[in-house]
Amino acid sequence: MSAITVSARSGAPEETAADTRVVALFEGETLAEAHLQELVELGEAKPGLRKVATDHEDAPGGGRRRVLIAGMGKRDELDAEKARVAASAVAGKAKELGSVSLSWAAPAGVAGALVEGTLLKLYTFDRFKSKKEAESDEPEGGLESLEIAGSDVDPEAVERARVVAVAQNAARDLQNLPSNVADPVFLAGRAEQIAAQHDNLELEVLDGDAIEARGMGAFTAVAKGADSEPQLIVLRYRGGDEGPHLGFVGKAVTFDTGGISLKPGAKMSEMKFDMSGGAAVLEAMAAIAALDLPVTVTAVVPATENMPSGHATKPGDIVTALNGKTIEINNTDAEGRLILADSLSYAVEQGVERIVNLATLTGAIIVALGSTHAGLFSNDDDWVGEVEAACTATGELGWRLPLHPEYAKLVKGKYADLDNAPEGRKASSITAAEFLHAFVDDVPWVHIDIAGTAWGLGRPYVGSGASGFGVRTLVELAGRAAGRP
Ligand code: BES
Ligand code: MN
Ligand code: ZN
Repeated sequence: MSAITVSARSGAPEETAADTRVVALFEGETLAEAHLQELVELGEAKPGLRKVATDHEDAPGGGRRRVLIAGMGKRDELDAEKARVAASAVAGKAKELGSVSLSWAAPAGVAGALVEGTLLKLYTFDRFKSKKEAESDEPEGGLESLEIAGSDVDPEAVERARVVAVAQNAARDLQNLPSNVADPVFLAGRAEQIAAQHDNLELEVLDGDAIEARGMGAFTAVAKGADSEPQLIVLRYRGGDEGPHLGFVGKAVTFDTGGISLKPGAKMSEMKFDMSGGAAVLEAMAAIAALDLPVTVTAVVPATENMPSGHATKPGDIVTALNGKTIEINNTDAEGRLILADSLSYAVEQGVERIVNLATLTGAIIVALGSTHAGLFSNDDDWVGEVEAACTATGELGWRLPLHPEYAKLVKGKYADLDNAPEGRKASSITAAEFLHAFVDDVPWVHIDIAGTAWGLGRPYVGSGASGFGVRTLVELAGRAAGRP
């Protein structure tokens, strides 16, 4: 998708030069312009969320233009999420009709959400199709510009939303790329591109030897079955001193076969998405730097494949993690917690004061929460409260599940300090979180299990493919740390 130009305009919405303008229709309200209100009365334009009706009118500069009437539900119930949904319905219609330029008459307070809903909906991933086949008989080309118009439209909110949506779509690209392209070195290359674009972003990459030499025995145990080189990708952003030093950690298993504890074949191809947490962290860093937020963030992304081979870790093997704890690896498919263990310890060593980690960690979280909420786990009520608020604000919903010493007991090892995969699988999303808990010392930390939301989310504006889940929440957290409203 070529980049869509996004702008804000405070003049009268109907004065737009766009070929298609959008008018919001709320339940129980009438539209000022007679020809549009006529469609409402005919029942052709409906106020229900996601409804879109089409009309035409004389354009101010001569010729005709299109008007889309977007159903928004009840005005007093409008929020950012509903605006994203309405915008995605409009974007889909505009695409189908061949609109090149789109202008929204924005209801109060949702300018940014309209930008997000539009850009996320229009995301496509077709670079491996030799013939670009338009869906059904859609016209060629596509949308080139989006304008958000209205007297109270905040141009900064519009720009912020554009940057965040572009970052989220970039994360979706990283997710969608197959593992034979997006291997650990490829992800490090993407981190290098991001760092090169911003003076206050600095990149450090540890390769397999350096990871091992640094004492990261858990990460090494996962990587050693693979022929591809693992990478510990560290991005340091120094934009200013507002708020605490944030640490973002993202699981990036570029393909998870399960290792010697091999996964069954059905849907194994989806395990190219097992780097979704890392993708979200990398692209959130790009957005945070582009927005020049006056905060300090250290991002740690452990990237590796999880492969079976003659040099792979075997069930029962015991390794020592960076923080000195020993781990019995009883299931090589519980690899995410192993690479995160060393990465969390590393982040703590770097002096981070608040941690969020994103990981497609457990299948069990899909059983518990489906694809509606990501699972949140935390050692700190205040910090998880802030993360929950950021989730709610961005529409990337999160739901807290408990930690408890009784769950922590379940990950105690028989021969070593910890067991990476306790028998019985009781509360297995929580025991996975308790495992991570052993590596964060007392730093306020939230683990977000995105196994159910990184793909298959199904929100109208992202569909059921790769969602880029987490980018908006991380950028929101950095924004809040910067004291932004
Ligand atoms: N990457 C998987 C978790 C996953 C499964 C994410 C399905 C998305 C969809 C993770 O590495 C894993 O294999 N977890 C195991 C842990 C178990 C062996 C303790 C699981 O969830 O079954
Ligand atoms: Mn696994
Ligand atoms: Zn995994």
